[in-house]
Amino acid sequence: MPIHIVLLAAGKGTRMKSAVPKVLHSVAGCSLIDRVLTTASTLSPASVAIVLGHRAELVQAALAHRSDLAFVVQEPQLGTGHALLTTAPLLDGATGTLVLLSGDVPLLSTKTLENLIDRHTATGSSATVVTAFVDAPYGYGRIVRDGERIARIVEERDATPAERTIREINSGIYAFALEGLFDALRQIAPQNDQGEYYLPDLFTIFAARGSRIETLVVEDADEIRGINSRRELEAVSRIVRLRKNDELMAEGVTIEDTATTYIDRDVTVGADTIIHPGVTLEGATSIGGGCEIHSGVRIVDSRLGDRVTILNHCVITSSTIDDDARVGPFAHLRPDAVVRERARVGNFVELKKTVLGAGSKSMHLSYLGDTIVGKNVNIGAGTITCNYDGEKKQQTIIEDGAFIGSDTQLIAPVTVGKGAYIGSGTTVRQNVPADALAVSAGKQRTIDGWAQKRKKKS
Ligand code: UD1
Ligand code: CA
Repeated sequence: MPIHIVLLAAGKGTRMKSAVPKVLHSVAGCSLIDRVLTTASTLSPASVAIVLGHRAELVQAALAHRSDLAFVVQEPQLGTGHALLTTAPLLDGATGTLVLLSGDVPLLSTKTLENLIDRHTATGSSATVVTAFVDAPYGYGRIVRDGERIARIVEERDATPAERTIREINSGIYAFALEGLFDALRQIAPQNDQGEYYLPDLFTIFAARGSRIETLVVEDADEIRGINSRRELEAVSRIVRLRKNDELMAEGVTIEDTATTYIDRDVTVGADTIIHPGVTLEGATSIGGGCEIHSGVRIVDSRLGDRVTILNHCVITSSTIDDDARVGPFAHLRPDAVVRERARVGNFVELKKTVLGAGSKSMHLSYLGDTIVGKNVNIGAGTITCNYDGEKKQQTIIEDGAFIGSDTQLIAPVTVGKGAYIGSGTTVRQNVPADALAVSAGKQRTIDGWAQKRKKKS
């Protein structure tokens, strides 16, 4: 039986008070809608249709990286029942099961979706809804039962005081038999407090026809949390973060304080790596085993080898750090910084589009941009590559074993040859051949007794 997925994402998300459509808000580095689509794709659906409305072009653009999505625009937005009806040109007449998902319910698991489809097909139902029992059902639609069986779904604002005490809620996730679905949808009337076409009214319609309706109750109510406000966004973010942390700890990573560790979904971390409090690991970051990441570090889209140490308060973006290297504290690795094995980057050092070769060191107060540094090079404190000539960026090359004295400026393009030695305070304007010494600071003048004489005058 083919599975067709429809994802509702036309709503404005008024309670978010945002210029950005609700489904594009992110939880741990991934938008709500992206999360739902990732879960949905595990069902190998025959088709996926997304109902857009409010700022449709933004949502569509944000999903441009995904293929095989059909978009339908619902304008105006007259309710969830009306939203599903807009997919009639795509799905009316199709056979199989339609799984309806909400763009703002990001924690739903693959397992629950599989269970939903199993229950739905095994019972031969026309409609099956995912529900949960919660302590605070306020705001959700309630499942009204007649004995064991579901009778209908009533929205909070249309419910009687007795119905409001019901703790079983509608998740907004359903499976429908496609046969007869669109006929039933056309019977929904906007007879409720909001004057909207309510999708849950399908259950009343099917029940009246004598068609079977079913529920699938999930144990973990967190799974079906819908996000309507910033507060709910934060609550879901916390759940997602803690789950990711749990996963990593189960794989042998030490996380000292899960409350302040922020690790995005796709980040990988090897066993025996220690993560101190207040660390953020984002995007496509991978970290090897036996590393130590100290407090206040943010790493984005970067790759770290094994046994790498990152000391406190470093910012590392789109960079590579090889085995046994050591970075920080207070270092800034900007895009395309490459720190080779055993190399060391110290405090207040900035690297950009720069390779620091194996065993090389730049320990204090330096800027290396558009630079290739060979192996076992020592970069003295305060060394600056002057890589920008006012028009374009120029390259600096420092070959293996060179020694760059403190407070050196390298005016690019320039090359310092193998094993060459640059005296402290030198401004290097011309290439320095291998094994040479270059010094440009003037001769020192020393006047004996000068300071004492000055004191006497005043
Ligand atoms: C809906 C359900 C409620 C359920 C809750 C679960 C209805 C009438 N109520 O309420 O029973 O407990 O979800 O989270 O369905 N949407 C459209 N077009 C529209 C209206 C909404 O695409 O015209 C989309 C929204 O973007 C959202 C989803 O449908 O992704 C749910 O809409 P929302 O307004 O959040 O419904 P709730 O009031 O939460
Ligand atoms: Ca909602």
